[in-house]
This record gives sequence, structure tokens and C-alpha cells, in this order.
Amino acid sequence: MKLNKLILGHILNPLSDKKCEFFYGALYLEEGSEKEFKIKKIYNFSSLGIQDLKEEINKINCEVCDFSEYILMPPFFDMHFHWVQDHVRAKPKDSLLEWLTKYTFPAENKFKNRSYAKKEARQFFRKLLAGGTLGGAIYSSIHAHALEYAFKEARGHFVIGDVVMTMNSPAFLSQKIPQARAQIKKFAEKFKERYCFTPRFALATDPETMKFGSKQAKKNQSFIQSHLSENHDEIRSTLSLYREFRGFGHVENYTEIYGKCGVLGAKTLMGHAIHLSESELKLLAKTKTALVHCPTSNAPHREQGLESGLFNFKRVEKFKIPWALGSDIGAGPHLSMFDVMRSFYYQNLRAGKAVSFVKALYHASLAGAEILGVEKKLGNFSKNKEANFLVIKNPYRNLKNKNPEQILKKLIDKYKTQRAQYPLHVKNVFYRGKKVF
Ligand code: GUN
Ligand code: FE
Repeated sequence: MKLNKLILGHILNPLSDKKCEFFYGALYLEEGSEKEFKIKKIYNFSSLGIQDLKEEINKINCEVCDFSEYILMPPFFDMHFHWVQDHVRAKPKDSLLEWLTKYTFPAENKFKNRSYAKKEARQFFRKLLAGGTLGGAIYSSIHAHALEYAFKEARGHFVIGDVVMTMNSPAFLSQKIPQARAQIKKFAEKFKERYCFTPRFALATDPETMKFGSKQAKKNQSFIQSHLSENHDEIRSTLSLYREFRGFGHVENYTEIYGKCGVLGAKTLMGHAIHLSESELKLLAKTKTALVHCPTSNAPHREQGLESGLFNFKRVEKFKIPWALGSDIGAGPHLSMFDVMRSFYYQNLRAGKAVSFVKALYHASLAGAEILGVEKKLGNFSKNKEANFLVIKNPYRNLKNKNPEQILKKLIDKYKTQRAQYPLHVKNVFYRGKKVF
């Protein structure tokens, strides 16, 4: 017999970058195949008195989970992070290239040890889940087994790739080109649309391997991700290196390098994309490439970021380029997407740009699902989507007459000065109707 469930609570549901619902109601879940639940109906009970509510619930007649004192919201999508960088989040970040060389590369090197990688994967993905993130795009280390462990432990919808480093990298993290290509081909064929070909960035991956990997990705419906125009030193080094390569002598900008290597496209995510010219934005729009903005990573040093600059979302939107938010762990110091939304909102507010928390939430949830092409089953609450939801502790004494902007502001401001505490907002996490945290 099929089991149905009624989940009562205050529903916070992002619909677009301007619209978010908030009302007292319920998610009605129906059990599907393999005991996994989907949302079959969403009730709005906000106009009912206590007696009418009781009668209505009796009529529906199924198992009731009462989270009336809590907020129910969809899980987060974190669209750019490095699961192998959990231990460099608090290291000095005076310069990107120095932070990579001094702390990050040695930290990733530890993943060559299988038992270390296995243990880390279990711990990291447990922490990710507890913070309410159930989707996104992930960078692993160069090591094949680390990618396998990540796929095994990640709960939710993630695309994941082994970072590819075939040149200009420390000897202990450099791959031989034939082996790197064999690994890309093997994983693209094995994981298909869950695989993400991941040239670390143009500085570390040779152009022929970028071309090879992009072809493999396109052939297997895989995704592609990399870093683009994060930092002025990085941009300068990349251009001067590539202008020495045959066929790249006349490249005008960083984006064009990826374009020439076949990296750009409708299933490509470019992280950062801060310092871009008009012609670069045109090329990104033309190729339908998506961008990932990582505000906590790009934030000033005093906020534990790399001080890379502020992503110009208005300009990106003018070119109709899709974009979503990412934590960029470990350049970003905290895993919680509440912290990423906080940083996006307050950095833009300080810069005099009109932003809202509703916009932040959309880019931390539904926008990610759209970019990954799974918005029909994930990203927010609607009929026939997977029954994935977060039970969030109520920041107010009374939720009546509050709007989504107020609720989100209250949640985000609560831990503004104790950023590591954001995961405390999450009481439970439900995945396909079952409590997983
Ligand atoms: N560019 C190349 N690799 C990295 C990385 O690991 N983190 C960040 N923030 N930028 C990069
Ligand atoms: Fe990154």
C-alpha cells in the first residue's frame, strides 16, 4: 500500500529572482517507486481557523508531520565548490596564486591516499547535507579514487569532476597528458550527465587536453566547469602564457582562450567571471555558458575572502547570461549558502546596487537547478517535484503577516557576525520524503 504524508509548516518557496511565496500550509507527499516521495499538492491554509484546519487535515486523512512552528524551504544548490579544500578555508588569502601554491595544492595532494580520501568524503558530505545543500557542481582533486568517493557519498543532485592539471602545476599534482585524458574519457563514459569535465583553469590545463575533454563531455552529455577571470594576476599570467602557444598568438582575452578550446557551451559553468569585457560577455552569451558567482570567496580580506572583486550581476543579466551562487569552498570560508546569500546581499548593498534576499535565495536554489537542467524535478516546491525540503528554525516569535524578504533578512542577520553558526538554522533535512538529517 502506498503511504502518503502531509507536512505542515510555513512554506517559503522561491519562484524567480523577484518572486517568493510565504504562507502557512502543507506539502502533500505521495510515495512513488522505490519508496521515494514526490510533492503531489501544496495546500495554503493561511485563511483557516484552528477548527477548520483540523477538519481539513482529517479530510486529507494521512500521516501528518507537524512542523507548524517551523519554516519549510527547498534545499540549496551550491554551484561551485571544491570538496577537497575543506581544510584551507581559514588559511591566509593575501593572493590567489600564493594561497593556491602554499596551502591548497598541498592540501589536495593528501587525497592521493585512498583511506584519507574515503574518510574525508564521509565527513565532508555529511557536513554539506547538514547545512541544507542537496545539489550543485563540485571540484574534486586530480585523483580518480577521490572522485569515486565523492560520487558515493554525495546525497542529492550533483555534477562532479576530477580537476585536470597537465601543466604549470607543482610536480606532486601534475598529471601526465595521456593518463589525464584516459581518466577524463573513462569518467565521462561512466558518469555521463553527472560527470563534469573540470580543467582547473587555463593556466593549469594544456589547450589540447581542454579540447579533448570538451569533446568527451559533449559526446557523453557531461557538464564542463572551470575558473574564469577571477584575479588580475591570474588574467595577466594566462594571457602571456597562451600568447606563446601556436594558434593563440592573437587571443584578445581570457574567455576567448576557453572558446578556442571548445570549453564554452550550454552545459558549461564558469566560476567567478569578475573582470570581463563586453566582447567576453558577448561570447559567453552566444555560447549559452552559465556563470557562477562566489561572493564569499571574492569578498575583501577582512571578510576572509581573496578580495578578487565584485561580480557585476546587472551587466551579466543585461546579456541574458544565466548565473547562480556558489560557496567556492575553500576560497570561500563557510559551507552554508545562508552565508553566501549574506555576502551577495551586503556586498552589493555597500556598492549601491539594488538587491534583495529573495533574489539571493533564487540564485541559491532554483537558478542552480535550471542551469543543471533539472528544474522540472528540483529547485523549489511544485507539483511532481521531488519531496526535498529543509526544516528551518523559526527566527520570529510569530510568523503571521511576515513577508519572504523579512523572513530571509531575519535568518541571515541572525548569524551575520558568527558566520560559522549558519548551519544551526537547519533542524532537519528531508530527501525524497525521508529524513536524512
Ligand atoms: N583557480 C584555480 N584553482 C582555483 C581554486 O582552487 N580556487 C579558486 N578560488 N580559484 C582557483
Ligand atoms: Fe573555485
